[in-house]
Amino acid sequence: MSQLAKQFTDSSTELSAYESYHGLTAQAIQRSFLDHLEFTLAKDRFSMTELDQYLALAHAIRDRMIERWLRTQDAYYRADAKRVYYLSMEFLMGRTLGNAIINLNLRDECQKALAELGYALEAIQEIEPDAGLGNGGLGRLAACFLDSMATLALPGYGYGIRYEYGIFNQQIKNGEQIEQPDNWLRYGNPWEIVRPEVIYPVHYYGEVVEYPNGKGKIFHKWVKTEKILALAYDTPIPGYGVQNVNTLRLWSSKASREFDFHHFNEGDYISAVRMKTESETISKVLYPNDSRHSGKELRLKQEYFFVSATLQDIFRRYKKTRNTFDEFSDKVSIQLNDTHPAIAIAELMRIFVDIEELPWDKAWELTRATVAYTNHTVLPEALEKWTVELLGKVLPRHLEIIYEINHKFLREVRMKYPNNESLVERVSIIEEPVPGIRPKSVRMANLAIVGSHRVNGVAALHTEIIKRELFRDFATMFPGKFENKTNGITQRRWLASCNPDLASLITKAIGDKWMTDLYQLEKLLPLAEDAGFRQEWQKIKQAGKNLIINIIEKGWKGKIKIDQSSIFDCQVKRIHEYKRQLLNVLHAITLYNRIRHQPQLDVVPRTIIFSGKAAPGYRQAKLIIQLINAVADVINNDVSTRDRLRVIFLPNYRVSLAEKIMPGAELSEQISTAGMEASGTGNMKFALNGALTIGTLDGANIEIAEEVGSENIFIFGLTVEEIAALKPHYSSWDYFHNDPELNEVLNMIGGGYFSPLNKELFHPILFSLLEGGDQYMVLADYRSYIECQEQVSQAYLDQDQWTRKSILNAAKMGKFSSDRTIQEYAKSIWNVSPVTVNMATCEV
Ligand code: IMP
Repeated sequence: MSQLAKQFTDSSTELSAYESYHGLTAQAIQRSFLDHLEFTLAKDRFSMTELDQYLALAHAIRDRMIERWLRTQDAYYRADAKRVYYLSMEFLMGRTLGNAIINLNLRDECQKALAELGYALEAIQEIEPDAGLGNGGLGRLAACFLDSMATLALPGYGYGIRYEYGIFNQQIKNGEQIEQPDNWLRYGNPWEIVRPEVIYPVHYYGEVVEYPNGKGKIFHKWVKTEKILALAYDTPIPGYGVQNVNTLRLWSSKASREFDFHHFNEGDYISAVRMKTESETISKVLYPNDSRHSGKELRLKQEYFFVSATLQDIFRRYKKTRNTFDEFSDKVSIQLNDTHPAIAIAELMRIFVDIEELPWDKAWELTRATVAYTNHTVLPEALEKWTVELLGKVLPRHLEIIYEINHKFLREVRMKYPNNESLVERVSIIEEPVPGIRPKSVRMANLAIVGSHRVNGVAALHTEIIKRELFRDFATMFPGKFENKTNGITQRRWLASCNPDLASLITKAIGDKWMTDLYQLEKLLPLAEDAGFRQEWQKIKQAGKNLIINIIEKGWKGKIKIDQSSIFDCQVKRIHEYKRQLLNVLHAITLYNRIRHQPQLDVVPRTIIFSGKAAPGYRQAKLIIQLINAVADVINNDVSTRDRLRVIFLPNYRVSLAEKIMPGAELSEQISTAGMEASGTGNMKFALNGALTIGTLDGANIEIAEEVGSENIFIFGLTVEEIAALKPHYSSWDYFHNDPELNEVLNMIGGGYFSPLNKELFHPILFSLLEGGDQYMVLADYRSYIECQEQVSQAYLDQDQWTRKSILNAAKMGKFSSDRTIQEYAKSIWNVSPVTVNMATCEV
C-alpha cells in the first residue's frame, strides 16, 4: 500500500491485489487513485498538482478496463469473428475520462471516492485536454461510431493517425481568429498504450519494375522506395452495459533504422538528424481544412501512411487463422469514412496481386466485397482529386493499378452503354486535363464507388441528392449499391455524460434502458403533460443555462451580464458560408435595429451564442467571425439593449465546450442552405438535450421534423426544389431593394457601422451577398427566417408550452442514436454479428 493510501484512507481494510486493479467500489477506486499518485506519478501530499490528480484517476479507471480489453480480443479470436475496420483520417474523441466513467458505470463510486479525499470529480475532469484529432462532423461521427460498436459488442476497430497536433486552438484577438498549435500530448496521454512490436514499413516514391514469374506471367515490383515506419498506439474503447472493450489504433510515423545507418554514416550528422525529423513529420499535424488540401503532398502521404499500415495489420490478423484469401471478405469489412482512405482500394489490389500473387479478377472481387464507402458532402470543391503527376510520383504502382482498374471499368461501361463517350468521361476515375485550366487527375470518389460494394449517404435527403445528382450515372449503373444511413450520436456522451441532471431525471421517470435503447425516451411523452415533471425539467434546463452564464462571465471577466431568463439561441459548428452564420448575424442586427428604433418595444430577451472555428485559409469564414464579434461589441455595449439582446462568440469550440453548451441551449440553429448540409449531428445533440430547432429542410433536420412533428420545430426557408427553381434567375439585389429592414442591415455592415475604424472591412461579405450572386441564398431566406424567429419569440413567452415541446423533442430522438445507425451498417453493409464478452465465464 502506498504511503498516501495509509495517510488518507482507513488503512485497516486491506484490499486484495485483484480489487486494487479491478474493484468497482469507491474504496477500491480511492486506493487505486492514491497508489497511482505515489507509484506511477511519484508524488506526495506536498508535490501533487491538479494534473497529477487527473492522471492518477485516469490510470485508476484505465486499470479497470484492461482485463476486459484483453478478454475482448481473446473472445473475438475464439469466435473467429468477422471484424469491421473503420478507416478515418479523423477521430474527434474529446475527453476520455468522463466517458469511460459513464461506460463503466462508475460515476457514483468515483464521486464518492474523491469526495472523501476532498476532491470533486467535475474539477478533475476539467484538467483533461481534448483529443481534437478531427475538424468537425466527420471526425466526431467516427468517435460516436466507436462508442456504439463497443456497446453493441461488435468486433470493430477504429484506425487512423496519431497526430501530434490536433485541430488548432482558436483565440479571438480584436475580434479575429488566431490559430495556436494544439500540443495535446504535452503532458502525456494516459489513455494510449504504445505497441513497439506493432510497427510496419510504409513506402513512398521509387519506381515499378516488371519481371516474368517463369510461368508466362508478368509481375510488378515497387522498388527504390523511401521507407518510413508506422508505430501503433492503442486506446481502449469501452462499451456501455457490456464487457466489451474495443480498440482505436492510431499510427505514429518514425524514421526507419536503415535511414539512420545510411544517412548517419555519410558523416553529416546534423543534416542527418534534420532529415530524420522530416521523415517523422507525416503524423505531426492534422490538416485543419475540410476541403482544401488537394495538391498537398504531405496530405497524400498521410492518407497512404495510415492506409498502408492499417492494411498490413488487417492482413496480419487475417493470416493468423487462414492460409487462403477465399474467406477474406467474410472475415473483413472495411468502411471508408469519406474518400480520404480511398487509396485503400488500390493498396488492397497491390497486396493481393503483387505480393500475394492472386489473379487480378479474384483480387478485384475480394476488394469490392470488402470495402464500403461513406460520402459526407455534396460540395463539389470537397470532392478529393489528386493530380496524376503527384500520385504517380508518390505512389507510382498505385497509379498504374488505378489506370488498370479504370481501363477495365470503362471497357464494361462502353459495352453496356455503347456510343456514350460523355458518360464514359463523367464516370472515369481519371479526369482528363483541360490545358491551362485543370491538370489530369484521379477522382477519389469515383475510385471509391467503383471499388466498393456499398456507397452510403448520411441522411435521407443527402442520399437522394447523391443518387439524383452528384453520382447519378453511378446510381443508374449500380442501382443496389447506394444506401442511406442517417447519422446518429451516442447518448452516453451526449446526454448521460454531458447532462447528468437531465439524465438522472429521465432515469428516475422511465428507468435507464434508454442508455442502450434510445427509443425508450418515448416513454417521456405522457410526462410532457405532467406539470410537476415539466417543472423539474425546466429547473434543470435553467441550471444548464446558468453554467453557460458562468462560462461567459469568466471569459469576459464579468463585463457582460446575461439575462438568465433570455432565450439561449445557439449556433455552434464550423464556420462556413453554407452553414449561414451570416443569416443569424443579420437576424441579430435586425433585432438590434428594432430595439434602437423603438426603445420601448416589448421584445422577448435573447442571448445569441456562436461558437466555431474557421479553416485558417478560408478568408470569408474568418471575416464572418470578425463580423460576429464586431456586431457583438456594438450590441453588448449599447445600453438600449440591456436585458434584451446579447451576442456572444465563445472561443475555441471543441467537444468539451459543446458538452457544456448542449444542456443549456434552448434554440438550436440549423440554418444551412437547403441541400448543402449532408446530415448535421449537432442538430441531434441539441434536441436530445431539450432544445427546439429552428432550421431549414436540410440534412437530418428533415428527419428530426418528421420525428418531433411540425408543431414542435421551427422550419423556414426555401426547399431544395425551390432553390433549384429560383437559382437560374435569382437576383439577391431584388431582396436588398425590396425589404427595408434587410436593406438597413446590409447598409450598416457596408457603411462601417460595426467597423468605424475601417469602414470597408466587411465589404467582401456584402460583395458575396450582392455582386457575388449570394451563392448560399442568404437574402432569399432572410424574411422567412426573421418571421420564423418571431414565432420562436412568441412561443417562448408561454414557458409551460415551450417546456412541453422541449420534452417532446428529447422524447422523439430515439432514431438519432448512433446505436441505430451502427445496427444498420452492421446488418446491411458489414454483415457482422455481436460477440459478447462475459468476464464471469471466460477463461483466464
Ligand atoms: P490482434 O487482434 O492480433 O491485434 O491482437 C490483439 C490481442 O488479441 C493480443 O494482444 C492478444 O491479447 C489477443 N490475441 C492475439 N492472438 C490471439 C489468438 O490467437 N487467440 C486469442 N487471443 C489472441
